[in-house]
Amino acid sequence: MSIIQDAAQKAMQLAIDLAPERWLPGGTPDPLMRKHGLIGAAVSRIDGPLKVRGQARFAAEIPLETMVYAALVYSSVARARIAMLDTALAEAAPGVCLVMTHRNAPRMAPPPLFMSQPKAAGASDLPVMQDDEIRWNGQAVALVLADTQEQADHAASLVRVTYETLPAVTSFADARTRARPPENILGAPTRIEIGDAEAALAGAAFQVDSAYSTPRHNHNAIELHAATVAWEGDTLIVHDSTQMVNATAWSLSQVFGIEETQVRVRSPYVGGGFGGKGLWDHQILAAAASKLAGRPVRIMLSREGVYRIVGGRTQTEQRVAIGANADGTLAALIHTGVAAMTQHNAMPEQFSFPARHLYAAEAFKVAQEVADMDMLVNTFMRAPGESIGTFALECAIDELAEAMRLDPIELRRRIEPEKDPISGHGFSSRHLLKAYADGAERFGWDARSATPGTRREGEWLIGMGVATATYPYYRMPGSVARIRLTADGRVIVSTAAHEMGMGTATVQAQHVAERLGVPFERVTFDYGDTDLPSGSMAGGSSQTASIAGAIIAAHEKLVPELLKLAGNDSPLAGLTPDDVEARDAGLGRRGDPERHESYVSILQRARREELVCEAPGPMPLETQKYSMHSYGAQFCEVRVNAVTGETRVSRFLGSFDCGRILNPKTAASQFRGGIIMGLGLALTEETLFDERSGRIMNPSLAEYHVPVHLDVPRIDVIWTDIADPHSPLGARGIGEIGITGVGAAVANAVYNATGKRIRDLPITLDKLL
Ligand code: MOS
Repeated sequence: MSIIQDAAQKAMQLAIDLAPERWLPGGTPDPLMRKHGLIGAAVSRIDGPLKVRGQARFAAEIPLETMVYAALVYSSVARARIAMLDTALAEAAPGVCLVMTHRNAPRMAPPPLFMSQPKAAGASDLPVMQDDEIRWNGQAVALVLADTQEQADHAASLVRVTYETLPAVTSFADARTRARPPENILGAPTRIEIGDAEAALAGAAFQVDSAYSTPRHNHNAIELHAATVAWEGDTLIVHDSTQMVNATAWSLSQVFGIEETQVRVRSPYVGGGFGGKGLWDHQILAAAASKLAGRPVRIMLSREGVYRIVGGRTQTEQRVAIGANADGTLAALIHTGVAAMTQHNAMPEQFSFPARHLYAAEAFKVAQEVADMDMLVNTFMRAPGESIGTFALECAIDELAEAMRLDPIELRRRIEPEKDPISGHGFSSRHLLKAYADGAERFGWDARSATPGTRREGEWLIGMGVATATYPYYRMPGSVARIRLTADGRVIVSTAAHEMGMGTATVQAQHVAERLGVPFERVTFDYGDTDLPSGSMAGGSSQTASIAGAIIAAHEKLVPELLKLAGNDSPLAGLTPDDVEARDAGLGRRGDPERHESYVSILQRARREELVCEAPGPMPLETQKYSMHSYGAQFCEVRVNAVTGETRVSRFLGSFDCGRILNPKTAASQFRGGIIMGLGLALTEETLFDERSGRIMNPSLAEYHVPVHLDVPRIDVIWTDIADPHSPLGARGIGEIGITGVGAAVANAVYNATGKRIRDLPITLDKLL
């Protein structure tokens, strides 16, 4: 997603260099970043009661008149031409109103590939049901519409397909022999070399050089991917579950050859996204079938369906080699590797990103390749790249500390950089060492025995491990906010943003209440609808900053408008925007409690029903000037059964440095959720991909093991709460960082417990016996 940001920023580079510091967004820190009150308060989620009562309507819960239900038929081979496709039995089945295949599907353009254009949302740019070619094992070959879901599912089982198979690349080892460098990694260079890292490694006093491997992972949001679609004339209405309403609408308009304004996407509630809720084939197929049938269509993928047509995290093999000098500084840092990918997507899994910013070294070699396979396209999955990149890098740091007989936290103190080691930019705000110090104290790191395998209680070996968490700060351009003040004293803020359970609406309502000086209850935050001002996607842990930037811009327009409306009869007469501040539901002169007028009074005196101001957030120039990242230190205690090899995480602490924490309740939940996904990554999650057929073999929650309650110990989370002076509200992203570093913290704890280094995820008991 940063390629868009990157291109925009490159265009602005000259202007930035010439611009005075105060022109930079964030150059004058947001005054709210140090304000306490609603910001920083543990406000419960506005949408909580609606969800608990079942009143929140999700995409597959929208009832439409004459609606029919869709079921998909998935291919069972990886590459082929369809030899025979017999739909007669399905068409004759009870309740069926349509069977759609490539033979009768409307002609549609391929979805625009994510990042190829600002609003491109396609996870791949393969044509959707337009020909007889099969490109991955699981591709939809037919769609059935029927009066009930059961009838649709039954009829789908009656579709007969045979294939003329074609040679397919389904072995990673085979694909690796033709690995290629991708054009870029989300807009960043594929390969970075500073000095001669291999030579520096060879000559270093201490060396580690290891290979790490990470498996495929699948998305398993509680809410299955679903959409309810209807055509109203030439206008397409999509009730979707998505992290990107605007991009979905634009992309669907391209697919169907209509105007963007002819597609309305609504997505007020998303039951978990994690990167997987974008534009996939099911929304396109449902819209196409709805067009053919002339009836609204509901499509909800089965759990297996999500595994067949919604991509996840891809497989990687990584090398991390580190050379250290006798004093503990680094002579060389090498992080290279290869990720499985298809030729039809834009997601090379940026595992090399952490090594570009985390530690000081004299020489660097950081490079990624991709190996093309015939498989479902992979996509974003919570901290794509960073989650598995930190597994390799942070295990290697632990291995180096062991080789040097240094405490792993002490090693990190010695390699803490003063500025970004690759870009040379200063850090906007970085307190990683404080996160380590605070975490170590709270967790009781002192109790760790440096010698592996020395703590034992009965059958259980006990160990402690630590690792760095990191995720970039992004702020997306293109987010527009509208502020509406009403004469009866309400504030309605709107932008087509997304709420997938993280607290978007709540936190922005807190923000607006504080920025305008009005009670929280008076604020409404409208989102999740393309009829609202264009929003940014919920991705890259960027949404809070992106929306906040737009709200700040809209507010900067609102204040002069209010002063103009207030006129000469107001206590505010003659004041400029710089003279006033928001307080007591109105504007007041700074430092002068006497001069104040409420918004209601201003509007009523001017005989106005409302005042509306709208503005886009400024370009995210702060990321050009500073190296901006969220940080954390993950502490883990494990108990490994010496007899069975079973690993149980007994304690976990995440200590984070992510700027200002806007709502400790929702933030703690984000951190914990990330850590829990990290425990899955460390110990249980693995998509089993049959390398003979390219078939995913465990497409169910029974066979793909996400952590359940009994797998998750008490998770403690703390944070520095140090405001970042270069971001709106002083906040950086918190959505994805929680998962990063967890794999390594667990692996390092397992090593400390057992003396066994497991460099291949997940750490299952067979690898420990
Ligand atoms: Mo996140 S994987 O960018 O939704």
